[in-house]
Amino acid sequence: MADIIDGKKSAAVVTDAVSEAAGSLHHEAGLQPGLAVVIVGNDPASHAYVGAKSRMAKKCGFNSMQYTLPEETTQDELEQLVEKLNADPSVHGILVQLPLPGHLQSEPVIQSIRPEKDVDGLHIVNAGKLATGDLASGLISCTPAGAMLLLRDRLGADLSGLNAVVIGRSNLFGKPMGQLLLAANATVTMAHSRTKDLPAVCRQADILVAAVGRAQMVRKDWVKPGATVIDVGINRIDAPEKGEGGTRLVGDVAFDECADVASAITPVPGGVGPMTIAMLMANTVIAAYRCVGRPIPKF
Ligand code: GUN
Repeated sequence: MADIIDGKKSAAVVTDAVSEAAGSLHHEAGLQPGLAVVIVGNDPASHAYVGAKSRMAKKCGFNSMQYTLPEETTQDELEQLVEKLNADPSVHGILVQLPLPGHLQSEPVIQSIRPEKDVDGLHIVNAGKLATGDLASGLISCTPAGAMLLLRDRLGADLSGLNAVVIGRSNLFGKPMGQLLLAANATVTMAHSRTKDLPAVCRQADILVAAVGRAQMVRKDWVKPGATVIDVGINRIDAPEKGEGGTRLVGDVAFDECADVASAITPVPGGVGPMTIAMLMANTVIAAYRCVGRPIPKF
C-alpha cells in the first residue's frame, strides 16, 4: 500500500509561513497584503472554490476582497473591474476564477491583469519567465507550484534521472507543471488526449501527474511499481451508497487500485487541492513583499 501524501498538512505548513510573513510585513512596513478574487456567474463548484480562497486569505491576515458578478456581466464590465483593481495600490493579487461563462473570453481578461498582480501565474510574462527557466522573478501558477512542493517533500528538489509523465497540456496546469519538472531536472513527457498508447507511456513514469478531468481514468496497470502519483483531478460522481442523489469527489486516478502499486499517491480530496489555495496565499504575500522592495519569503 502506497504512502498517502497529506496535502492538508503540507498546505498548513505553507499557510502558517504565509501568515507569519504577512504579519511581519504589516508590523514592519505597515502593509497588509490584499487579494481580490473575481467570480462571474453561478457555477456552484466555482463558488465553493472562491469561498475557500477568500476565507483562507482572511485567515492569513490579508485584506480579502471578493467581487461576485452576475452571469450577464459583459466583457467590458469585467475588463473595467480588472483595470480598477490593477490601479488600486491596496490590491497586490488579482484572481479571476475560471472557467468564465460561455459568452466571455478569458484570455483577454487574464492578459489585462498586471503581471506583478497575476497571482494565478497565467499572464504571458509570468508563463514566459517560467518557460525560460526564471523561477525567481515572476509568479508561478498555484496548482503546479503546490504539486511540486508535495514532490519536493517526498523526493527532494533534484529529480535528476527520474522520468515524469504529465497527462494534460492546459495553460493553467499541464504546461507549467512540465516546466517545473524540467527545471528540477526530471525527464519530462507531456501526454494528452492524442497520445498513442497512453497506458504504456504512463508505465514509464517514476512521477505520474494526472490532470485530465476524467474521473478515475488512470488505472492500476498504467502505474509503474514504486511510482509517485499526483492526482490533480476533481470530479464529482454519483455515489448511490450515500442514498438517492448522493455524490462524491474523486480524482483522475482510480485511487484504491493505484495505491496498491504506487509508492506514494495524493488523495482526492485532501491532496493537491489544499495546496492550490496555499500557493495562492504564498503568491499574494510575495507580490506584496515585492511592492515594498523587500526580499521575498521562501515557501
Ligand atoms: N479554476 C480552477 N482552478 C483555477 C485556478 O487555479 N485559477 C483560476 N483562476 N481558476 C481556476
